[in-house]
Amino acid sequence: MSERTLVLVKPDGVQRKLVGEVLSRIERKGLSLVAAELRTIDDELAAQHYAEHDGKPFFNDLLEFITSGPLLAAVVEGPRAIAAFRQLAGGTDPVEKATPGTIRGDFGLETQFNLVHGSDSAESAAREIKLWFPAL
Ligand code: PPS
Repeated sequence: MSERTLVLVKPDGVQRKLVGEVLSRIERKGLSLVAAELRTIDDELAAQHYAEHDGKPFFNDLLEFITSGPLLAAVVEGPRAIAAFRQLAGGTDPVEKATPGTIRGDFGLETQFNLVHGSDSAESAAREIKLWFPAL
């Protein structure tokens, strides 16, 4: 059973020229790229994307960061794609949670600048893909 997930290479990942590295890991895992677009998003899309975190202490920082420059938004497909990409990404905190060998574990130092986002459930994936790629 194939499923789809929304992946972001966040502005820090684009700025550090890690887009190719992330896409390469996705493809080496066996997942497929369905859509991808480089774009700089506004506050409205950022707030919708992170709506579940509205009110948390880091919400404003998160919005400021995610709108700070171009990011790569992609839809990735394959068997268990949601969990598979989260495995590739590693835990949210690149030092305390992500292990070496993961994207965050290999390239990240700070939670705010943790390079990538992947949908965390089938419900989130459906909502996020519709938000970012309404034509799909
Ligand atoms: S929570 O509260 O457990 O649901 O939060 P978590 O799943 O760990 O993180 C949700 C997203 O918020 C980002 N985050 C932060 N950004 C900036 N500063 C701080 N301190 C911070 N803590 C968490 C985190 O990277 C998650 O973003 P995504 O894009 O979903 O990975």
